[in-house]
Amino acid sequence: MIALGCDHGGFEIKEAIKKHLQEKNIPFIDFGAHSTDSVDYPDYAHLVCESIQKGESEFGILCCGTGIGMSIAANKHKGIRAAVLSDEFSAEMTRRHNNANVLCLGGRVINEEKAVKLADIFLSTPFEGGRHERRVEKLNALDKYIEQE
Ligand code: RB5
Repeated sequence: MIALGCDHGGFEIKEAIKKHLQEKNIPFIDFGAHSTDSVDYPDYAHLVCESIQKGESEFGILCCGTGIGMSIAANKHKGIRAAVLSDEFSAEMTRRHNNANVLCLGGRVINEEKAVKLADIFLSTPFEGGRHERRVEKLNALDKYIEQE
C-alpha cells in the first residue's frame, strides 16, 4: 500500500502519480489534499507517516511546492526516512542506500512526467542492505531523540 499526501503546491503532481498508480493497479490511500485550496503541509505529512508507522502503508509519497516542507515534517516521525529529490539517480540511491520509505517531491520544481518517473523508480528499487544496513540502523537509532507523545 502506498500512502499519498500533498498540499496545494503539490496537488497536480500527486494527482498525476495517483492516476499512474491506478493504471498500474498499485493500491494506494489518498490522504488529501483533494483540491488546490490552500492547506498546511504538516497535516498531510502526518497522516501519511502515521499510515506507515501503523503498518497500513509500506511507502509514502508527499508533494508540496518544493518537497522540502513535507520532508522536514515527515522526518520528525519515528521510523520515517523521507527523501526530497528531483532527479532519477537520487530516487534510485535513496532506496538502495538509505532505505527511504517516504518520497517527497516539489510541484513547483518538477513537472508531472518527472514526478511519475521518480515515483516509479522509488517504488521499484530495493534496499541494497549489506554495509548500508549498519548506517540505516544508525539513522533509526536517532529516533530516540524524537520526543513521543
Ligand atoms: C506552500 O506555499 C509552500 O510553502 C509549500 O507547498 C512547500 O513548498 C513548503 O515546503
